[in-house]
Amino acid sequence: MNRLQITNLSKTYPNGVRALDNISLTITNGMFGLLGPNGAGKSTLMKTIAGLQAADTGEIFFNEVNILQQPIFIKKQLGYLPQEFGVYPKLSAYQLLDHIAVLKGLPATARREQIPALLQQVNLYQQRNMEVHSFSGGMRQRFGIAQALLGDPHIIIVDEPTAGLDPEERSRFNNLLSEIGENIIVILSTHLVEDVRSLCTSMAIVNKGRLIAAGAPDAFIDQLNGYIWRKFINKEELSDYQQNHRIISTQLNAGKLLVHIHNHQHPGNGFQPITPHLEDVYFSQLLNTNNHE
Ligand SMILES: Nc1ncnc2c1ncn2[C@@H]1O[C@H](COP(=O)(O)OP(=O)(O)OP(=O)(O)O)[C@@H](O)[C@H]1O
Ligand SMILES: [Mg+2]
Repeated sequence: MNRLQITNLSKTYPNGVRALDNISLTITNGMFGLLGPNGAGKSTLMKTIAGLQAADTGEIFFNEVNILQQPIFIKKQLGYLPQEFGVYPKLSAYQLLDHIAVLKGLPATARREQIPALLQQVNLYQQRNMEVHSFSGGMRQRFGIAQALLGDPHIIIVDEPTAGLDPEERSRFNNLLSEIGENIIVILSTHLVEDVRSLCTSMAIVNKGRLIAAGAPDAFIDQLNGYIWRKFINKEELSDYQQNHRIISTQLNAGKLLVHIHNHQHPGNGFQPITPHLEDVYFSQLLNTNNHE
């Protein structure tokens, strides 16, 4: 079992933004979902784990090794798919994988074995001689997973990998991730809360650099069971409802507003009980922290 242990991690950028504020978190094998609004600190946390940037304070241990002090150690065991994968040189998928494998220090025999197998795994073997810059978004992201898997890493970090993918490619990509996630740690950041629900056994929510919740998606949902209510209202009524109820989300639905509220008893007033979704967990956790400021 792999174990990533983060303690009291903080990072303030030179412009004064506190992107990580005393984060402590333990992650073990399986898929781990990282949720949080834009600017929450997800990418900063991921880059710090990947050894690409330093923290101001705090420690990260991977299997008992202090990786902030030994960044080379984690680079050998870790695969990373950044949020912006950047520009591609004019190389075929095979050539580019080989190039990245050389940079990762893989010997020629390992490269000859792993590269065709990885191209098969991500379903790009037929396209192995095509240049990567000509790939569609979904093909690029699958290529991104292949390069992250070079060298048999024990931990994979993927930062918003399905942003911009069409629904079919997104589900293809998610299936690929869930196959990988059994014997290693996979850390996935996303804005798609339902993807965390369907893929991840553990998750965390961050906001403004702080960890606001961590645990199993199922356990979070159970905690809200019986407390979430919904109602369709007119847009003009929203401010009234905001004064009288704890609204956790609003969603436009054919011109009407679908409102979800959190309440321990039946609120009456035409509200219907619903089975909570992970989105309700996400929004109510964010609401808790925003209200406590
Ligand atoms: N290199 C940098 N220099 C200065 N500020 C930065 C830098 N990188 C990130 N930030 C700031 O740090 C905060 C956290 O950014 P980060 O990219 O980690 O958030 P995120 O959760 O990944 O957001 P998103 O969902 O939009 O990708 C933001 O306020 C961001 O503007
Ligand atoms: Mg990000």
